[in-house]
Amino acid sequence: MNVQSFDIQSIFKYDIFKRAGEGFMIGNKILRFEELESTNSFSKLNYESIEHGAIVLSNKQTKGKGRNNKIWLSESGNLYFSIVLKKDISLKKLFRFVSITSLAILKTLEEYQIVASIKYPNDILVNNKKIAGILMESAGDITALNYLIIGVGVNVNQLDFGELKYIATSIRENTSTIADIDRILLKFIHNYNELSVRDFEEIYDKYLKNSMVIGKSITYDNEQYIITDIDINGAIILQNGTIKRKVVLNEISLGELYE
Ligand code: BTN
Repeated sequence: MNVQSFDIQSIFKYDIFKRAGEGFMIGNKILRFEELESTNSFSKLNYESIEHGAIVLSNKQTKGKGRNNKIWLSESGNLYFSIVLKKDISLKKLFRFVSITSLAILKTLEEYQIVASIKYPNDILVNNKKIAGILMESAGDITALNYLIIGVGVNVNQLDFGELKYIATSIRENTSTIADIDRILLKFIHNYNELSVRDFEEIYDKYLKNSMVIGKSITYDNEQYIITDIDINGAIILQNGTIKRKVVLNEISLGELYE
C-alpha cells in the first residue's frame, strides 16, 4: 500500500497556514493514500496507531461510504478525508463536532465565493444541490468513546454526476475553474481549528443562521410539520398546530422538505 505520512509543517506551501504552527487541534499529521476502500473504514481499523487529530486522506476510495449505508462514489478529483479524534470526545459533544465541521466547510467554500447552507443534520448544499457530506462514526460506551471519526467528502472538480446531476454539484461547477484539492484541505483544517476554540453558543448560533431547514415543512411519521427550530443538543423541533415534537434525525431527504 502506498502511503505518505507527513507533518503539516513540512508541506506548508501556503502562507496562511504558516502562522498556525503548534496550535493545531486537527491536521498536524496527514496520512495520504493514493487509494483506500474508505478513509473512515481505514481510520476505524487503525485508530489505535493513528494519533489524535490526524487526517487520513485518499485520492480516491473504492468503497466510499455515505450515511445510512449509502455508497459515496469516490473517483479521483474530489476531496475525501477523515479526522481521527481520540481525546475530549463524548456523545454529548457530537452536535458540537457536527456544527464545527459543517461551518468549517461553509467557510472554506466562502473562500471560493460559494455561498452554501447546512441541511440538517450535516449536508452542505449550494442552490439545493449537495456539494459536501459528513459521515461520523464512533465506538465505545456512552460516556467514553474510543474514537470519533469525522469523514468528509467534498465535490471539488467533478463535473459529470450522471443520474445525480440534479442533486449534486461541485466547486468547479460553481466557479468554472479547477481547484487545488490540497489547498482546500488546508483551508478546511485552518477554519476547523479556528472554530474549535470558540464557545459552543457562538458555534450553535452560526449553525442556526446557516441552516436551510428552519421554516420548511416536512413529512414525518406520515404527518406534515413545520421545522421551527434546532435545539442546542442537535434535535429538530417539529410543529403542527399545537402539536410539538422533538426528534433527532440522521437524515432528511430533500424530497421531504417543502418551501
Ligand atoms: C453523506 O452525506 O452521506 C456522507 C458522505 C461522507 C463521505 C466521506 S468521503 C471520506 C469519508 N470516507 C468515507 O467512506 N465516507 C466519508
